[in-house]
Amino acid sequence: MRNNNLNIAKRIKNDEFYTRLEDIEMELKFYSRHFANKIVLCNCDNPYESNFYRYFVQHFNQLRLKKLITTCYSDSNTCAYKLQIQEVRINKDGLNDITDIHELIKNDKNTLSILNGDGSFDSPECFELLQEADIVVTNPPFSLLRKYVAMLMKSQKLFLIIASQNLITYKEVFPYIRTNQMWIGYNKVHSFVQPPSNSLKIFGNICWFTNMDIQKRHENLVLTNKYNSEDYPKYDNYDAISVKATNRIPMDYMEIMGVPITFLEKYNPDQFEIVGNEYELNIPSGRTYLNGKRQYSRIFIRRI
Ligand SMILES: C[S@@+](CC[C@H](N)C(=O)[O-])C[C@H]1O[C@@H](n2cnc3c(N)ncnc32)[C@H](O)[C@@H]1O
Repeated sequence: MRNNNLNIAKRIKNDEFYTRLEDIEMELKFYSRHFANKIVLCNCDNPYESNFYRYFVQHFNQLRLKKLITTCYSDSNTCAYKLQIQEVRINKDGLNDITDIHELIKNDKNTLSILNGDGSFDSPECFELLQEADIVVTNPPFSLLRKYVAMLMKSQKLFLIIASQNLITYKEVFPYIRTNQMWIGYNKVHSFVQPPSNSLKIFGNICWFTNMDIQKRHENLVLTNKYNSEDYPKYDNYDAISVKATNRIPMDYMEIMGVPITFLEKYNPDQFEIVGNEYELNIPSGRTYLNGKRQYSRIFIRRI
């Protein structure tokens, strides 16, 4: 029991990182065209704390949102509730904060209500809200990422979420990347706000994942290098050449190439096909070797 509590406490501690408004603004500006007349769900967001909530209320009219639903988990030091916003009136005097929940719910079109359960994204009532929504946007709990992504993909909703780049390597997630059902957004997220002191906690490899179309996905990677067998040797245990950096992909090689995972930041599905990863291609010992040396995890691609 005690251990269990400790585990829960640890999980909660590891999950309480809040996304900065600047990071949300920097990414969301590339997706504006997707939001008109849509219902947005932020299902890991306490509106009293979440900058996702703040962003969508501030941009409610500009994005022409139909509705914003925010649900919060009871572990966020408060009870679980949902806030539904259908109208944001612009103050003529401009004096009040338009994200002030107390002010917003004076309007009958907006409601704040207590949830029956704990507000977990997979609880029946939150699942129902997911069905109602068109687009899910949030930074989900790090400790429940697998479960969260599985539910999201099953729902077939549009989404934009923050997650560790390691997500790419999860064997149940990579097929979504390979088959173009999920891709990487524009920016890295380098830091989060950590309560109670609201200090900034720095992270190394966090980025945005989405299934909404973005311009970046249609831009060709400019290739300048030419293939030669010295600079691009074949792996010992897999029939593909090794390309050490994405910007060194040869312009004239049409067979399979192993590239760093960061290739996905530049991936245009009209330019390249993703063939698989070590796991999917049954590469012995789960890694490629080059002159007897074990290589980092790679993605195997081919020019189209
Ligand atoms: C990484 S934080 C991000 C919070 C907020 N989305 C943001 O970006 O600022 C993840 C949040 O999910 C909440 N959470 C943990 N378990 C949850 C669950 N099962 N369902 C919904 N939210 C959960 C945590 O309390 C935490 O506030």
